[in-house]
Amino acid sequence: MGLSFGVTAGSLNSMVGDFLFDERVRSQRTELERLSVTAAPLLARADTEALADLLEGAAGEVSGRFLVLDETGKTHLDTEGELTGTLFQSEETDAIVRRGQSVYFGVHDGATGELVNTHSLIFTLRPSGAWYSYCAARLVDGDEVIGVLLLMSPVTDMMTGLFSLQRQMLLIFLLVALIAFVVSLLFSSILTRPIQDMTRAIQRMAKGNFSERVKVSGTGEIRRLAETFNTMSEKIETLDLTRNQFVANASHELKTPLAAMKVMIESLIYQPDMDKALRTEFLQDTNKEIDRLSAIVSDLLTLVRMDANSVQLTREPLTIAELVQENAHRLDSVMRKRDQTLELKLEDPCDLNADRGKLNQVIYNLMENASKYTQEGGEITVTLARVGRDAVLTVADNGPGIPKDSIPHIFDRFYRVDKARSRETGGTGLGLSIVKQLVLLHGGTIRVESEEGVGSSFIVELPFSPS
Ligand SMILES: Nc1ncnc2c1ncn2[C@@H]1O[C@H](COP(=O)(O)OP(=O)(O)OP(=O)(O)O)[C@@H](O)[C@H]1O
Ligand SMILES: [Mg+2]
Repeated sequence: MGLSFGVTAGSLNSMVGDFLFDERVRSQRTELERLSVTAAPLLARADTEALADLLEGAAGEVSGRFLVLDETGKTHLDTEGELTGTLFQSEETDAIVRRGQSVYFGVHDGATGELVNTHSLIFTLRPSGAWYSYCAARLVDGDEVIGVLLLMSPVTDMMTGLFSLQRQMLLIFLLVALIAFVVSLLFSSILTRPIQDMTRAIQRMAKGNFSERVKVSGTGEIRRLAETFNTMSEKIETLDLTRNQFVANASHELKTPLAAMKVMIESLIYQPDMDKALRTEFLQDTNKEIDRLSAIVSDLLTLVRMDANSVQLTREPLTIAELVQENAHRLDSVMRKRDQTLELKLEDPCDLNADRGKLNQVIYNLMENASKYTQEGGEITVTLARVGRDAVLTVADNGPGIPKDSIPHIFDRFYRVDKARSRETGGTGLGLSIVKQLVLLHGGTIRVESEEGVGSSFIVELPFSPS
């Protein structure tokens, strides 16, 4: 802004200068040319008196001073007398005598006599003093240049006007530049401050501080950027927390069977004469713990693979009712042992495209939980129906139910309502989180309805045509 204003002001000033000067010169030029025609024969005849008469009269009219120089630059006549007989040199007379011009103009500093260029006036800044315009015309006799007629007239008023204009422009220029500077500084700091804040927050996040949030302020792009950044850092923080919990839980789950195994194996080593029946029991228990360990590891692997999105569904046409019946058959002996009754209400066979192995895992896990957590002699009901565009599978029991505050966590990894009891029954708390992931992979949903002392129902909804 400052630069463009400076350039505009400079050229405006020079244009005004040129205009004023041209205006001044135009009238003098005509006058000078007219006078030179009359003066030339007088000079040729060396009629100084007539020449003086002519020029003194004219000097009064144009309020200037006339000089007549011969071709060597010697002053033949000065209307003010002072310079007569001396050598006089100027750019204007040189232009006539040496360079063969007929008329030539210039502005001179009254103090030094120096010629100034009106185009460079913008930076000369000499407001005081006297200024003269020199206007020269040749005097000819036939084809020969015999001298120069020079008119010097004061232009101080014009120059003072120009200088004051120049000073005002410079002042405005400085003011505009200052305002532009301050405003742009203000603007850039307003614009860049949120970005700088964000950069610092990202740097702190890169060092592992995921609780970083930035202040959401302003409007438009920057605001959206800050909001997006905060959402992202929240997600990363939750992810980090979940991951840490997961690792801690997994290590704990793996350590428990290992500790039990170590106790039993040490007993076997340090008590060589142990009772044979007890030894067999210890070995059987160790074997059970190994089974448990490998079950946990395979569950963990399934979950990790699902997290990495590397689990692909291999869909095929199947009938859910058939899968339910298969699993009922598999769990038959377990339920019979616990004196539990299983009722199947298969209202619709529900044919759809799904991954057989994974859907089987879902149904087995839910039915196994229902049997595992329901007291002996309990009742389990599996319902299958078509509701709108979904196949709805409900596994209900009349077991102990799930406490209200546990319901939101029931699908979390390693979450168990009654830790001690679940361990007895061999659960790891991974079953339902795997079930949920598998249902989501199929584009479905799962939820639980439960009341303590009454029972629990797990409801799975699978779309017939997943999008
Ligand atoms: N039908 C149910 N009735 C009451 N509580 C249940 C029922 N199903 C699950 N739960 C509770 O939810 C917890 C989590 O179940 P989940 O299937 O995820 O783990 P698990 O059965 O303990 O172990 P896993 O299934 O991996 O062998 C269980 O420990 C149990 O406390
Ligand atoms: Mg389970």
